[in-house]
Amino acid sequence: MSASYPDRYQKSSSANPADVETTCSTYGLTKDEFEQLHKGSVAAKATAYCPYSQFRVGSTILAADGVFISGANVENAAYPVGTCAERVAFGKAVTEGHKGFRAVAVATDIAPPASPCGMCRQFIREFCDLKTPIIMFDKNGDYLVQKLEELLPLSFGPEALPPPGRPGVSA
Ligand code: THU
Repeated sequence: MSASYPDRYQKSSSANPADVETTCSTYGLTKDEFEQLHKGSVAAKATAYCPYSQFRVGSTILAADGVFISGANVENAAYPVGTCAERVAFGKAVTEGHKGFRAVAVATDIAPPASPCGMCRQFIREFCDLKTPIIMFDKNGDYLVQKLEELLPLSFGPEALPPPGRPGVSA
């Protein structure tokens, strides 16, 4: 039996203009931005280095300055050293100087789609508002979209720490 979309999540299709319109108006994206997130993450998937899992993942993120940054998973013969697509994309974006991100897209070759792993959710949390949409595309272009706070409830973030240079505990 093939896996199906879980009932409590609403499946949308990037081929259905009504679905795309709803997603765009809910998350403040233009249709062109949505399209670029879709196409970018699918294209990034083709660049994956995944000889061990054969599981390709592409990610494209939209920065506040309007730039799209993409990455793919990069595996390693020492398995735990491999890096997920989302962290590659965010690492690129942050080191290229982008600040503030409006949307995150992830594409895989499966359906229902893969969602970012726990480590990536926390990594994303460092740089994104909790309302940021995470758009998860499946192999058919159908997708699920969830806010970061839905994927990572009660999360721990930078604001929980004392400002840099100030000790958090008193003697
Ligand atoms: N992977 C990602 O790139 N992103 C995720 O959020 C889930 C998993 C990659 C890691 C590994 O290269 C392959 O998928 C199989 O786990």
